[in-house]
Amino acid sequence: MAKVTGLEGVVAAETDIGLVDGAQGRLVYRGYAARELAIRYGFEEAAYLLWYGELPERKQLEELREKLAAGRVLTPDLRRLLDAMPPNTPLMNVLEAAVAALTDETTAWPPTVEQAIRLTGLLPVIIAYRHHQSNGTAWPEETQEKEHAAHYLYLLTGRPAQPAHVRALSAYLVLAMEHGLNASTFAARVVASTESDLHSAVAAAIGAMKGPLHGGAPAGVVRLLEEIGTKERAETALREKLERGERLMGFGHRVYKTLDPRAEALRAVAAELAGDDPWLDLARHAELVAVRLLEEYKPGRKLRTNVEFYAAAVMRAVRMPAELFTPTFTAARVVGWTAHVLEQAGHNRIFRPQSVYTGPMPAEADAGE
Ligand code: ACO
Repeated sequence: MAKVTGLEGVVAAETDIGLVDGAQGRLVYRGYAARELAIRYGFEEAAYLLWYGELPERKQLEELREKLAAGRVLTPDLRRLLDAMPPNTPLMNVLEAAVAALTDETTAWPPTVEQAIRLTGLLPVIIAYRHHQSNGTAWPEETQEKEHAAHYLYLLTGRPAQPAHVRALSAYLVLAMEHGLNASTFAARVVASTESDLHSAVAAAIGAMKGPLHGGAPAGVVRLLEEIGTKERAETALREKLERGERLMGFGHRVYKTLDPRAEALRAVAAELAGDDPWLDLARHAELVAVRLLEEYKPGRKLRTNVEFYAAAVMRAVRMPAELFTPTFTAARVVGWTAHVLEQAGHNRIFRPQSVYTGPMPAEADAGE
């Protein structure tokens, strides 16, 4: 049987954008600790840093806010496109298809920061429109709200968001926006390396993000905690899952074999936000039990809490519906994807790895071409 490597340890790019230091549990965006960025700055500042390589001055920040706002338009074309999609198309596939369909002469190769900003502004609009469509609720009136996280929450509920919710969602978006050559960013770079276009690269990344081993995990965390139900049942429920050979969603990471710094930061955000929330209390307890049981069932694999575990807690605390967890992760990671596509375009060579053929060979007489 062919050996499965998952490309572990393979270096496929050099990047100035982000460092994922698994050994020391560090995540760095262009020289800044992601945790500090999440605590001291908002979504816009961190996005600016990833796209332009430095934190914005006040005027640059204002300009970015204006550009993001200009991208947040439900155009007649977009509305028609979304209305035409079958009601049971999963939201991630709706996003993927809409991003691909909105390609035109203004999005052609080479990719630009302007295209990246427009697309980043647009994703929450697609998510929120589809959400209202599925629930039969009204698309809200226009608002003057400029802050990205606040605007997204407004679009979902039609009401101004609580400042604590905005802060928490903004911190989540910052911590989720970049993570080295993860599966979806790699997919984006592969497509970009063919000199296709930014939208095609992002559509491919969204396809990769949908999978439960990547961006699909936080909804799995909610299901896991719902199945556990109470603190008293945590040990039995988690043990049963491990006995059946199931994976515990929200645990384990390819790179982090120590703490996932994003999980640490989000744990703090969730605690500040939710205080004595019983659901968060259950999450904290389940984490402790799960880490102990994983050490028992999978000794030496160093399976710790990953970003998705506390992302689920923060999302619930800001009243984000579970079906929007992965799309919201997507609305954050689009910043990292587009930054990587821009970097790839700056010094491009087409990705073309090799495979090792392990199948049978034709009989000697048929071997020639
Ligand atoms: N629960 C139970 N066992 C696990 C888990 C888990 N969450 N994660 C890994 N393992 C076990 C595997 O069964 C395997 O055991 P074995 O050695 O007996 O075969 C061993 O640990 C190593 O697992 P791999 O699959 O080789 O680890 P890999 O690095 O390929 O996978 C991954 C990383 C996909 C994140 C994995 O840990 C997993 O499936 N976790 C659950 C899903 C999840 O939370 N995904 C979100 C990741 S974060 C993100 O994408 C933003």
